[in-house]
Amino acid sequence: MLSKNERWLLSFYRTSEINGALFFGRLARALRPGPIQADMTRHFADESQHARYWTDCITTLGSEPLKLRDAYQDQYLEAGGMPVNLMEILAVTLVFERRVVGQYVTHSKVPDLKQPIRDTLDKIMDDERWHVSWVGGALKELEKTWGEDEVARTLKRYTDADQEVYRKTLAEHEHIIGELMSFRAK
Ligand SMILES: [Fe+2]
Ligand SMILES: [Fe+2]
Repeated sequence: MLSKNERWLLSFYRTSEINGALFFGRLARALRPGPIQADMTRHFADESQHARYWTDCITTLGSEPLKLRDAYQDQYLEAGGMPVNLMEILAVTLVFERRVVGQYVTHSKVPDLKQPIRDTLDKIMDDERWHVSWVGGALKELEKTWGEDEVARTLKRYTDADQEVYRKTLAEHEHIIGELMSFRAK
């Protein structure tokens, strides 16, 4: 069985994956056909599958997903400002995807992790690594148009936003995340 805190965290992941799928899906709809749109389409399909994997994981462990408010991604846009062009969109995406990979890697180090959770994290992480890699590559290409400095400045802006949002999320949910991830402090 899932503890109350585990149920919350897996539901948080699930909601975040759904929001990711919708965010990237809308972008794919808006973009012109080409390699970036093709990768963006694969990307939003992955995030949809991840939401499904978390639903399966939660139900396999005899629980039901929780309905959570507040999309984590929306807070990024509030803190860092709405991206207004493709370069900024890819920058906020890269920062967000790095955060997701970091969180999943940290979670996978929790000792005595339930097998369905471990299996789900492993399955998802392969895709998340590809997300970081294709977005990073596409952003590198855009340096030719925007210049290295402008891309670096934009990444810094969203990295700062990420830290602010993550600090806020940690502060709000410290009792939950703290208990599950407390092995880190040992
Ligand atoms: Fe994902
Ligand atoms: Fe992702």
